[in-house]
Amino acid sequence: MVAASRLPVDQTEGPDGETEWRASPGGLVTALEPVMRAAEGAWIGWPGAAGEPPEPFDSNGMHLVSVGLSEEEVADYYEGFCNGTLWPLYHDVIAPPEFRRPWWEAYVRVNRRYAEVVATEAARGATVWVHDYQLQLVPGMVRELRADVRIGHFTHIPFPGYEIFAQLPWRRQIVRGLLGADLLGFQRQSDATNFLRACRRTAGLATRGSLVRVPDAGYDDPPADSAGRGFRRQRVAEDLASGRDVRAAAFPISIDSAAIEEIAKSPEVQARAQQIREALGKPETVLLGIDRLDYTKGILHRLNAYGEILEEGRLGPPAAVLVQIASPSRERVESYRHLRDEVEVTVGRINGDYGEVGNPPIHYLHQSYPKDELVAYYLAADVMLVTPLRDGMNLVAKEYVASRYDETGALILSEFTGAADELHAAFIINPHDIDGLKDTIVRAATVSPAEARRRMRSMRRRVLEHDVAYWAKTYLDALSKVPVRYPPAADPVG
Ligand code: G6P
Repeated sequence: MVAASRLPVDQTEGPDGETEWRASPGGLVTALEPVMRAAEGAWIGWPGAAGEPPEPFDSNGMHLVSVGLSEEEVADYYEGFCNGTLWPLYHDVIAPPEFRRPWWEAYVRVNRRYAEVVATEAARGATVWVHDYQLQLVPGMVRELRADVRIGHFTHIPFPGYEIFAQLPWRRQIVRGLLGADLLGFQRQSDATNFLRACRRTAGLATRGSLVRVPDAGYDDPPADSAGRGFRRQRVAEDLASGRDVRAAAFPISIDSAAIEEIAKSPEVQARAQQIREALGKPETVLLGIDRLDYTKGILHRLNAYGEILEEGRLGPPAAVLVQIASPSRERVESYRHLRDEVEVTVGRINGDYGEVGNPPIHYLHQSYPKDELVAYYLAADVMLVTPLRDGMNLVAKEYVASRYDETGALILSEFTGAADELHAAFIINPHDIDGLKDTIVRAATVSPAEARRRMRSMRRRVLEHDVAYWAKTYLDALSKVPVRYPPAADPVG
């Protein structure tokens, strides 16, 4: 059973105003579909709009169970606590997180609703895999309701350093919620290490390597006036005698690399890539950015660096153009509205200053596209710009690599992404270092074909071997090795 913020389908309106469901072809669904089909699995999630949830239904061999959110819960839980508190906090406070008590209360309420659905729907001895920052209390809540199930949790975004995490007024509840799981997956080793430190500091728990010892008898919080250390020393001996170990480790997520490569090889997509280059005026160099319009993605840093390059005449139209696709996201959250304004003013300024009729230096598209169209853009691009200030993984970087089956193209990649831990052959940059970023953009745009090929070949090897199926299998194998302490034969619900 999977519990995730969203269902793997999108609710759309049919021609006569009726509700229709369209499969949303995300990587997570692709990876889990075969596993879920074989296990007759259920997927629990929010359909994406406020109001009464639809009845459970089947789609692509999966049983889908909707969790409904009221208008107020969309505002307080989804836009509020998830995307106004946790998202900025976990991404190194790039935007200031807001701590509001009613938002937290809505988060607890919605997490409980998910946990109750899981507890009702899960078969005896089931494996329950909970996803991401929206559902961090669910593991603990499910464990209380159903001691017979195996519980995993995977955090798709970064887990912050303790000094930042410590700002959260509800840090102890979050740590306890996650520790309800048997296995906690993170993108990078540094995320797992940050979490282990949070366990020591907020809950006074003992850790050994990747394991946290959670005492059977429950555990008190450290006294409010202590940082946890003395308290922990005193308690370690008793804790080690009883309790269960929770493992926190890195399982870097990936994409369905073969499927992306196949799309890239299709004649339609190749023709479309050609068309895109022609529409851009057949420049020598196409630079490309594709992101959700989010302040973590470093879009402004990229635009400003490119603006300076144009000013200095190092690259520019008609020989080089930048295409920036920014897909709409979380549009009712204030910081996202503000970012959109800033990005659009910046694009307008740069195009105004350095454009000519028929030759704008930046083509900006605030739209969402289907995967085939995105792959056509990947194929059309000589240089891919991935410049986040912080990103759990960044799958766009991996998709670009998977689509470049002829081993051409250059990837510029921020060191603050999870992908940078794997794609060492990319042009690695620090997006805050504008001079370094500018030099690297120019270098990537003028790299020799031999060097480009050597780099791309190395990155492709990694992305093709470590695809999303490998990720899901590695994680689920590790979860299946957790000893079940309450055998499925025992009646879980009395
Ligand atoms: C990130 C998160 C996901 C989230 C997605 C889209 O990738 O890790 O959990 O679903 O962004 O954001 P949204 O707010 O539209 O669900």
